[in-house]
Amino acid sequence: MVLILGLETSCDETAAALYDSELGLLSHSVHSQIDLHCLYGGVVPELASRDHIKRITPLIKQCLTTAGKNKYDIDAVSYTAGPGLNGALLVGASVANSLAFSLNIPAIAVHHLEGHILSPLLSQTKLDTPFITLLVSGGHTQLIMVNHIGNYTILGDTLDDAAGEAFDKCAKLLGLPYPGGKYIAQLASAGSPVYNLPSPMLYSNDLNFSFSGLKTATAILINKIKQHQFNLEIKQNIAATIEESITNVLVHKAAKAVVETKVNRLVICGGVSSNQTLRRKLDSLKNVDIFYPPLEFCTDNAAMIALAGYTRLQQQHNKQNNYAFNVHPRWDLTTLNIN
Ligand code: KG4
Ligand code: ZN
Repeated sequence: MVLILGLETSCDETAAALYDSELGLLSHSVHSQIDLHCLYGGVVPELASRDHIKRITPLIKQCLTTAGKNKYDIDAVSYTAGPGLNGALLVGASVANSLAFSLNIPAIAVHHLEGHILSPLLSQTKLDTPFITLLVSGGHTQLIMVNHIGNYTILGDTLDDAAGEAFDKCAKLLGLPYPGGKYIAQLASAGSPVYNLPSPMLYSNDLNFSFSGLKTATAILINKIKQHQFNLEIKQNIAATIEESITNVLVHKAAKAVVETKVNRLVICGGVSSNQTLRRKLDSLKNVDIFYPPLEFCTDNAAMIALAGYTRLQQQHNKQNNYAFNVHPRWDLTTLNIN
């Protein structure tokens, strides 16, 4: 039995989790900084770092108490080493390495996106490789071939805005709070996609995405309508059209990846994977097995970081032993590649 403490501080969530190799997840807690940042319409990096410092130790203590464990029960500490905000990452990395040093146990640097990719395994006992992952978060929109755990090929990427970023920017245009993805989804559930907005790169010959044109088209549409009238029903219909446009592209490209690679297992993860319209459309794809993380693990959390750390420990690919650390605000997933 191995007990892993996972820490996540890459952006605006501070999170800790305890993962037991035999029993699974024992406890996890997340502190969201949304209230801190929403005043500014986006994440303020310096405020994020300061808040992580304040929250991280109480969260670790809370996890240990909930699981009925103490710090001497921990066998390894895994932490998000990138990609993310430099200062925010440094908080998790320094706490993880000091704690591991004081307990004389390994500190394992985890790639945040690998955490998201493995997140369905928090509820799924079996997920055979290879599989394709559609990773859709605030910062990333990628189609990734998981050749095996730890070995990844990028099939498609966004050329500009990520899907979550597109949701958030369009939400801002509609006057919704940050991050706006879930508010667009709420409005959309009562509306119909009656407007004409582009589904960018829907029929491009590759597996790439582009969402910045959608934001511009939404701004033009809203300005045009505002000159006449703007009520809740119109807002709901615009939200439904935005959601329709983004999810159409995501589903079309994911289906194209399945056909092109002949791999029919598809994982959807990242914050946008909690979108119910996206899930409904993916579920209707024929001959594709779809795997989702549980809803609470779609957005950033430490349970997925603890699980990814455990996987790396099993693969004995944790070469760090002197507690010297580096964080990687930009970190190409394929540089991990373990054969
Ligand atoms: O994975 P995540 O928690 O953070 C990053 O690593 O980026 O994803 C956050 C993103 C935000 O852009 C948020 O608006 C979006 O996920 N999101 C949604 C929904 N819930 C969260 N987008 C669409 N529909 C939702 N229900
Ligand atoms: Zn994330």
